[in-house]
Amino acid sequence: MAVFLVSSIPFVLLCTRLLRNDLGINPVETLQHTTGDWTLRFLIFTLAITPLRKTLNLPELIRFRRMLGLFAFFYVVLHFLTYLGPDQSFNFSGMWDDVAKRKFVTVGFAAFLLLIPLAATSTTGMIRRLGGKRWQSLHRLIYVCAILGVIHYYWLVKSDVRKPLMYAFFVGIFLLWRVWDAYFRRKGKAPATVRPEVSTHTNLPAEKNV
Ligand code: HEM
Repeated sequence: MAVFLVSSIPFVLLCTRLLRNDLGINPVETLQHTTGDWTLRFLIFTLAITPLRKTLNLPELIRFRRMLGLFAFFYVVLHFLTYLGPDQSFNFSGMWDDVAKRKFVTVGFAAFLLLIPLAATSTTGMIRRLGGKRWQSLHRLIYVCAILGVIHYYWLVKSDVRKPLMYAFFVGIFLLWRVWDAYFRRKGKAPATVRPEVSTHTNLPAEKNV
């Protein structure tokens, strides 16, 4: 509940600013930038869960991963809607032209499309239906989404690339950690151990969760 409330704060603040007419000289841009930023942040928070869970030996952190991932999806839907509505006036053919023409939009759109099956299969029922292994493979796409999100941001900024590079740094760290962890697991010795508890969300053994 606390994680839900904290994750909702950016949305509540944005709504408050919107209602107060306090979104600056370019409200659409403010909405787009704020929702884009929060999408990328929540993707990174989601990626951080497994490394933190394993290195700090806190298996209970797994409970928050689904919610953080769903918040990333929630913010990208808002981000997309601010693009489709105020930016493109719900003109789908104009949107397709833009997706085809501007490469940063193409990449952002691809990341958005990839997040849809992840959100749709986030329920415990879907995990059971797909089976742990297939579900895990599908949900590794979150790394691809985060990388595409960073490229999208990097390509859209005109001069100051410090922020996209900072996001790239975090995505890179978590990706490298994953590769390192998988390498040691294949060699039969885990670099960090986790108590083999059952995840409260998935009923899969905690170390089987991605
Ligand atoms: C996972 C998917 C996505 C992520 C992580 C993401 C992230 C971001 C970020 C971080 C920004 C810049 C925020 C800032 O300047 O502080 C941004 C801007 C923007 N994004 Fe996305 N985005 C995604 C998907 C999309 C999609 C699907 C579209 C439209 C089809 C889109 C269109 C835009 C536009 C038009 C801007 C503003 C560009 C400008 O200022 O010129 N994004 N996005």
